[in-house]
Amino acid sequence: MERQMEPWWKKSVVYQIYPRSFMDSNGDGIGDIQGIISKLDYLEKLGIDVIWLSPVYDSPNDDNGYDIRNYRTIMDEFGTMEDMEQLIEEAKNRGIRIVMDLVVNHSSDEHEWFVESRSSKNSKYRDYYIWRDGKDGQPPNNWGSVFSGSAWEKDELTNSYYLHLFSKKQPDLNWEHEPLRGDVYQLMTYWLEKGIGGFRMDVINFISKALDLPDGTIHPNNLYGDGSPYFINGPKIHQYLREMNEKVLSKYDVVTVGEMPGATTDDAQIYTNPYNKEVNMVFTFEHMDLDSGPGGKWNVQPLKLVDLKRNFEKWQLALHKVGWNSLYWNNHDQPRVVSRFGNDGEYRELSAKMLAICLHMLQGTPYIYQGEELGMTNVVFPLLEDYRDIETLNMYKEKMEQGISHEDIMSGIYAKGRDNARTPMQWTSEGGFTTGTPWIRMNPNTDEINVEQSINDSTSIFYTYQKLIQLRKQHDIITHGSFQLLFADHPSLFVYKRQSADEEWLVVTNFSDQREQLEWKDCDVTSKSREIIISNYDTLNTNENTVEIRPYEAFVVAFKKGIEN
Ligand code: NOJ
Repeated sequence: MERQMEPWWKKSVVYQIYPRSFMDSNGDGIGDIQGIISKLDYLEKLGIDVIWLSPVYDSPNDDNGYDIRNYRTIMDEFGTMEDMEQLIEEAKNRGIRIVMDLVVNHSSDEHEWFVESRSSKNSKYRDYYIWRDGKDGQPPNNWGSVFSGSAWEKDELTNSYYLHLFSKKQPDLNWEHEPLRGDVYQLMTYWLEKGIGGFRMDVINFISKALDLPDGTIHPNNLYGDGSPYFINGPKIHQYLREMNEKVLSKYDVVTVGEMPGATTDDAQIYTNPYNKEVNMVFTFEHMDLDSGPGGKWNVQPLKLVDLKRNFEKWQLALHKVGWNSLYWNNHDQPRVVSRFGNDGEYRELSAKMLAICLHMLQGTPYIYQGEELGMTNVVFPLLEDYRDIETLNMYKEKMEQGISHEDIMSGIYAKGRDNARTPMQWTSEGGFTTGTPWIRMNPNTDEINVEQSINDSTSIFYTYQKLIQLRKQHDIITHGSFQLLFADHPSLFVYKRQSADEEWLVVTNFSDQREQLEWKDCDVTSKSREIIISNYDTLNTNENTVEIRPYEAFVVAFKKGIEN
């Protein structure tokens, strides 16, 4: 009975579209909404249930749409409101819901609220943003922006500073101010009334700032202070999310996922416990930070698989029967996972399938980022001029000023830059994304890695994803089973068990090109009657007692409980 009441998103798989890079229908080199509509059949074939659409609102594109000028209109380059309504409708006809990106920690500096706000200290909109006086000609505090430089910008007109945690064209909204919150709830309602399936909430755990805005610690090799303790999971965050739920979300059957850098499992237990009525799930960043050194994101260090396993274990156990996990390897801010944690050379296909199986067998809602289902890889553009991302370009400038060499900076960009994820979707061997010149160069490997080729090859990565999506629909154990990590200290095998009342599933994945061997008896499974659910090699290399695990191999075997044959 309880199961029937279960929210639909627990068995859903989400596909993220970065509209600028997905499909261009009019030859201007920029992806658009009609382009997305033209590919809905492809997404239906993959089997996904939800599209998370990165922002399509009107924007001057300082941060590719994460700087919104008008929350109620569509960016000209992407199309019109009629196109958007058509997308919602046509997706619905295929059983696909559209989740919009809600970016309300900040707006564009070209949003009319900000234009009004900066015009005078007496403006009705002044308090929609966070203004402070400078201190002795310096910004109000020492916080650095995520996109380099100070988090404060001086506005000459009123001789005060406004806070921008991201670029200076992304001023932070002031959630303390009730009229601002009311306006946000209205714009959310506007979209929900159009029939969308929910929101992905951009850095939503940054919206409540400690009012006194104290200086942050200056970490080694940093020019600015770290303000994050004063705005991550800030003092009123739970109050605001509950208010948002009460005033808006509770009236619709939708899904919400909060992007929450710095959220721990303790935080996530509060955010995602259904009784708290905050969000359904969070995007955590802990597993995405494991290959960063003490110097932060650009200080790349090799991943230790043991850390990754322990991290997944922590999240799986913490939210089981308490809240809900989101599961992801990729999005528009992260490098391509096959290049990052897999092998994008000889074992590209095997390792991409292995990573898919490893993630999709966990408890939670999986997110696939466009091109992940093809095993798209990172890109190495020799020239800085080929890069577009504001984070990358600002970081390059700041590090050059600090005397770091071009080569060192570029190697960080190759490993971690966000443009790795933003090169256009590879539809055909010639590209197939646009008939014009793409806004950012294609990855030159489109002749080998593309949709056309994947669809025609029944053993491709695409079909592994398709099968994983189907399995989630067919087997409750994936949605509800418990999680147990095995061989926690093994340096290259990630092995875990899922368990329900009548079944046990063993998930075995090899994160290396080395051969390994396991004894079935050490896998702690209670029955020998095993059924292969999915694998990335044709057959298992096994006998009664042992199984050999080949390079980047992954398989899932089901054991029915109580059968000892
Ligand atoms: C997180 C988004 O995912 C990222 O792309 C964006 O730059 C920042 N938030 C600012 O909106």
